This record gives sequence, structure tokens and C-alpha cells, in this order.
Amino acid sequence: PKLEELPLAMEKTFQTVAQHTCSWSKGMLTLYNYQGFWNIEDFHDGALLAQQSFKAQPSDVYICSHPKTGTTWLKALAFAVVTQEKFNESTSPLLTTVPHECVPYLEKDLEQIEENHKNSSFPLVSTHLPYAYLPKSIIASNCKIVYIHRNIKDVIVSYYCCLCKLLNIPVEDAPFEMAFDEFCQGISWCGPYWDHILGYWKASQERPDRILFLKYEDMKRDTTTNVKRLAEFIGHPFSIEEEQAGVIQNIVKLCSFENLSNLEVNKSGKHRPETCTPVENRIYFRKAKDGDWKNYFTDEMIEKIDKLIDEKLSGTGLDL
Ligand code: A3P
Repeated sequence: PKLEELPLAMEKTFQTVAQHTCSWSKGMLTLYNYQGFWNIEDFHDGALLAQQSFKAQPSDVYICSHPKTGTTWLKALAFAVVTQEKFNESTSPLLTTVPHECVPYLEKDLEQIEENHKNSSFPLVSTHLPYAYLPKSIIASNCKIVYIHRNIKDVIVSYYCCLCKLLNIPVEDAPFEMAFDEFCQGISWCGPYWDHILGYWKASQERPDRILFLKYEDMKRDTTTNVKRLAEFIGHPFSIEEEQAGVIQNIVKLCSFENLSNLEVNKSGKHRPETCTPVENRIYFRKAKDGDWKNYFTDEMIEKIDKLIDEKLSGTGLDL
């Protein structure tokens, strides 16, 4: 079914979907709460559609993440891995296409995913949905899932900077403290962050063979080892000959921040240019630095977020 055919307006009106307009956004950002987590409008609509109609295939591999945790990078790496036999570092579509177009979003690109199911063996699908809200067929089909998480302080800064750019709000007009406070209340795109991460963490503990749990900072520290893990998990391991020929290093280099962020397509191109909400690709690439939060957080904020994370996630065994 097409989005227009579903009773989404009714759904929004009658299914107690709470709305919240973020105070720091000058009225530009409205979030929708669906069964406890917040989403932006088009991802919310797409998520409902996917939940109602999406049929996963057992060979699908889901790239799952909270926004701003390294989704773009993980999509690029996973794409390069699954297409390694078809393309190399000078022919890869990643050189001319933003990674988000190479790996479709469940909430936005349902037709493309269904097309892939019919006409190709391309397995990758990405989503920002929390584990509990994944369409049931993904779990029932026992699909593999790769989840990435990142230091919450860097996520908050990345999220704030990204949304200011997306919504065209000058940072002077969007107080960081207010965005921070709302994030700490769990009111943010795909928030609460701790529930998002915990859902996938618990699932990965229960089904470690189906859910690979990655950390952005670890991937930066040792990209090669993590790309090998990723490739093995996805079912596209590198042969000894490929390793010796430097295939992993080539993928790491192709998908590096330095390389991707300097490509013409990612400097001046647009994602979904034909829609009413095109996104400039350069928004997906900012600094990619660990610890940029130190330029934004006051001592009070550090104390507040550390306490909150301790409250929400200590004792879970998560390596944050
Ligand atoms: P910063 O805002 O801290 O720079 P997402 O892809 O989930 O939206 O996450 C965006 C973050 O990942 C941004 O962080 C962005 O700069 C960083 N990023 C984008 N491409 C990357 C890459 N190839 N390698 C490492 N980090 C990358």
C-alpha cells in the first residue's frame, strides 16, 4: 500500500500520538511520540507504514542506529563490503552517491527496498527505529542486525548541530542548553537515547549470533579489525588473498571521513532532491571528532549527563 492509502491522519489524531514542538528550535522542530519514543514527522509516518506492511526477508541485514551515531559511515562500510566483488575503490557508487542513497532507509525508502527484494540479492536496509518498534517480520525472519552506538555527549552535540543546519536555524538563535535539557528529558529524535541503546543491547545479549553491537569510538580506533568483524558477520568474509591484496585497507580508505567528506557529491550534492525535503549531503559530514562535546558542555551539564547515564545504564554491562 501507498502512504496516502493508509489512515495516517486518523492514526495521528486518535491513537494518542503526542506532539512536542522543541523549545530551542524556534518552533521549527515538532516531534511525535509513538508508544514512548519520539520521531520526526516523515520518519514517524514511514515507520507506521513499515510496521503495517513490511515483509522482511531472512537474508536482509539491518543497519540500525540512533541518529548521529555514525550511521553514514557504517552504511558506507557495509555497502563497500557487500559489493566488494562487483566494485573496487575506483568504481564504487560511493564515489558518486551519498551512502544514504546506497543503503535505503526502512522509514523512507520502502519502495526501493521492495524493489531490491524482487530484483536483486542486495541485503542492506537501514533504520533508526528502536528495537521494540522494528516490524515484527524482521524479528520473525531472524534477520541479522548491526547496531552502532556512540558517546552520548558527542551524539548530543552532533544532533544539535545537524538539526540547526537541517532546519536552517542560526546556532545563535537555538540555545544549546535548551536542546541539551530536552535531550536529557528523552525528548529528541529517536529519544530517549538510553532506551534506544538498551533495547538493542539486551537483544544482542539474547541473540549474539544475530545482532552485532558496534561502538563508533572503537571503530575509529581500529577500523580494520571492525570491518573484518562486520564482513564476517554480514556473511561476506574476506579471503586470505583479498586481505593480502589490501582489500580491507582500500575499503577503510574509501569510507574514511577524509575521503567521503571531500567527494564532490558529498560537498555539493543533495539527498532526495526530487522531494519537498531535500537534504544537503554535506550535513551528514561535520567534524567526526571524538570529544567535540568539550567545546559545548559546561561543568553542570557534564555532571547532569553523567548522573543520568549512570542512573539509566549502569549495571547493564554496556561498555559506553
Ligand atoms: P559529528 O557531527 O560529530 O561530526 P550519522 O551518520 O549517524 O548522522 O552520524 C553523523 C556523525 O558521523 C557526524 O559526527 C559525522 O561527521 C560523522 N561521520 C560521517 N561520516 C563519517 C565517516 N566516514 N567516518 C567517521 N565519522 C563520520
